[in-house]
Parts: sequence; structure tokens; C-alpha cells
Amino acid sequence: MSSKKTVYAITLVAFLTAACSQREISYRRDINPIFQANCAICHTPGGAGYAKSGFSVGTYQDVMKGTRYGSVVSPGSSVGSTLVRLVKHQADTTINMPKNYTIDLTQHDNIVMPGVNARQLPERDIELITKWVDQGAKDN
Ligand code: HEC
Repeated sequence: MSSKKTVYAITLVAFLTAACSQREISYRRDINPIFQANCAICHTPGGAGYAKSGFSVGTYQDVMKGTRYGSVVSPGSSVGSTLVRLVKHQADTTINMPKNYTIDLTQHDNIVMPGVNARQLPERDIELITKWVDQGAKDN
């Protein structure tokens, strides 16, 4: 390969890498599925997390409303967002998220929480949530 072609190839790779990492995160496509799969069982009306905190992941508006004490997402600042700190396990062990649970079919209320344990979301999901908040926590 001539050196000119090499430069073109390197430029193209650099461009594509930058384009991929700058991709706009979509609430609908990227974030909502994470919340539905990992949080909704407790954080929708009727769930233990909703009952205790008032935080629901039912709709985008619910997520932005936060808990009954106030918002947990500061658009543009993942560092200042409680929700991000919880999923990064940077909070008190009793409120790191998502809380662990088991399903016990012998119980009337089937979801049993073993106390303070929390599960860690996959690294990729944490990264998506962090970027979504830093990009303005848009309803997109
Ligand atoms: C097994 C049930 C369960 C799951 C799953 C769960 N939570 Fe929670 N969550 C709780 C409970 C219970 C509380 C109340 C904690 C407390 O105050 O003792 C809570 C509290 C919260 C709060 C409020 C914390 C505060 O400042 O008081 C946020 C925000 C939150 N959860 C986010 C999430 C997110 C995001 C997910 C999914 C990634 C998730 N939770 C998954 C049960 C759960």
C-alpha cells in the first residue's frame, strides 16, 4: 500500500471510531429496554421499589420525575445524577441498583429481596445510561 493510501485508511478508521463513540444514545432504543428488563419489576406501581421510593420506570416522564423526594437524573451530568451513582454502585450498599431478588412461588407476593445485595448491570448498559445522561437525558 502506498503511504498516501495508508494515510487515507488510517483517517477513515479514526473517523469511523469517532463516529461510533459519538453516536447519539436513544431513550427508546437503548435506555428504556434496560429499565424494563432490570428495574420495572420493582419500579412500577405495585412493585416494592416504587412503593418505597416513588420511583417508576414506566414512562420517560416517570423516570425524569424521580422519587417522591425529587429527581434522580440531572440532564447533562452523569456525575451529578443519583440514578447513575446507584447503577455504578457508588452509593450506600442498601440502595445500589438493581437490587437482587428471587422469585418465591410459595409467597403471595412472589418477589423476595435478600436485603442489601445488589446486582451490577453489564458494563455496556452502565455506559449507555451514563452517556444518555451526559448527552442531555433526552426523550428520543
Ligand atoms: C428487586 C427490586 C428492585 C429492582 C430490580 C430495582 N430496584 Fe431500585 N429500589 C428498590 C427498593 C426496595 C428501593 C428503596 C430503597 C430504600 O430506600 O430502602 C429502591 C430505590 C431506588 C431509587 C431511589 C433511591 C433513593 O434515592 O432513595 C432509585 C433511583 C432506583 N431504585 C433505581 C433503580 C434502577 C435504575 C433499577 C434498575 C437498573 C432498579 N432500581 C432496580 C428495589 C429495586
